Amino acid sequence: MNVHAPSFFVPPRPPAPAEELSLYRFLVAVRTNALQIWSKSAYEQDVVVGSALGRTRLLINAPDAIHRVLVENTANYSRTSATIRILRPIVGKGLLLSEGEEWRHQRRTIAPALAPRVVPVIARHVALATEEMLAQLAAAAARGPVDILAAVQFLALEIAARSMFSLEMRQYGVALRRFITRFAAKLGRPYFLDLMLPAAIPTLRDLARMRFRAQWVAFMDEIIAARLRAPAQGKPRDLFDMLLAARDPETGEAFSRAQLRDQMATMIVAGHETTALTLFWALYLLASSPADQERVANEVRGVDLAPDAAADALTKLAYTKAVVNESLRLYPPAFAIARMAIGPDRLADVAAPRGALVMISPWVLQRHVRLWKDPDAFNPGRFLADAPLPHRFAYMPFGAGPRICIGAQFALTEACLVLAMMVQRFHVALADARPVLPRAVIVTQPDHAAPFWLRPRSESR
Ligand code: HEM
Repeated sequence: MNVHAPSFFVPPRPPAPAEELSLYRFLVAVRTNALQIWSKSAYEQDVVVGSALGRTRLLINAPDAIHRVLVENTANYSRTSATIRILRPIVGKGLLLSEGEEWRHQRRTIAPALAPRVVPVIARHVALATEEMLAQLAAAAARGPVDILAAVQFLALEIAARSMFSLEMRQYGVALRRFITRFAAKLGRPYFLDLMLPAAIPTLRDLARMRFRAQWVAFMDEIIAARLRAPAQGKPRDLFDMLLAARDPETGEAFSRAQLRDQMATMIVAGHETTALTLFWALYLLASSPADQERVANEVRGVDLAPDAAADALTKLAYTKAVVNESLRLYPPAFAIARMAIGPDRLADVAAPRGALVMISPWVLQRHVRLWKDPDAFNPGRFLADAPLPHRFAYMPFGAGPRICIGAQFALTEACLVLAMMVQRFHVALADARPVLPRAVIVTQPDHAAPFWLRPRSESR
């Protein structure tokens, strides 16, 4: 026995079913906890083939096959009708759901606004909003355990909204939050008919989604109109200024008012809950693994994380970043990337017929027994500079290929800075022993809002 072998925290996970699910149990699992749609063997195999209602379903783990779907033959794979049906009412014709030439035009035009050189603008908004939240948390923590999930959800939406519309948030922030929460609570969840009917056949829930869309569009248009009345002062203040000035580098085309609105909605929706959950899981893991928390605390001690210094501080946060990456491995917020095959293809020697549902699951892939050593253990060391790089198609919390997350840099900047600021200020501990299990409905959330103790660092030493 190697007495020096480090012992890692192994967080609990929901049990995987012993065998493939029936259609009924599959549909129930999608609604309640999609992490349980994959049986034990999914974490060991290259491809899992199933079928439901005459439609082939493939889960692919083989790197070559993933490369084929997301990179080499990407034109053959479109968004699924369930994705379109559920998200169209809130993101409209923005980048997330567009396809073909329209998607290329949008991606080229938006990319510079989210390029690494924009990090200082984002870092400033992140640090400012986090400073405000830390003050509120300090007051709440003095009274007892705090609901960290609610705090990071509030913060991530605040950061997304301020990074898009810094000027207007005082006036519109509360209403914006209300819209997003209303959509997420009901209309944004998948129902049986969403999964079974083609997008062209509306359900009653779709009618409610259409009503929501009319109100949402009017609201976003109002914010944009207010913003256009506030003249720019040269330097871009936020993503709105950048997207307003953005031009397609090939055609010189600018976004229309409607396109601008759908892009802003897309960024807010795609970006805030995913980043909030990354933060929740990172804090949960650090609370459960005191040695790793101390390592982050040592790294951030004395680092200037004030709004004007935050962007430069990022280079000093190697371990904090490794914790974020490892949290994204164990709890990828986007637990599945789904595509529909437009035409027939072959994936890892398996036929993918036209219309097949092809799934790549960062959740399965990043805990696959053949791709990872101790796949369920929390070990940020995997992501330090001296560790071997994970296979490109074994770790993909942000997807891969041309449709890779355009906000990845934004999300990583935000997650690292907020985590660093939290641990610099507080010692974080779970307030009860109830296990926290991941539950995936649209994104990978905790099954309950676990209470945390936050002790100011100066007092805890
Ligand atoms: C930890 C946080 C995040 C995670 C885990 C995440 C994950 C992903 C994944 C897996 C995809 C690819 C989906 C696919 O191929 O079907 C994606 C796409 C996208 N993400 Fe993110 N995302 C995060 C944060 C953000 C942020 C902060 C923004 C905006 C500022 C954003 C905007 C988008 C957009 C617009 C797309 C669609 C890109 C396209 O289709 O060209 N995401 N994201």
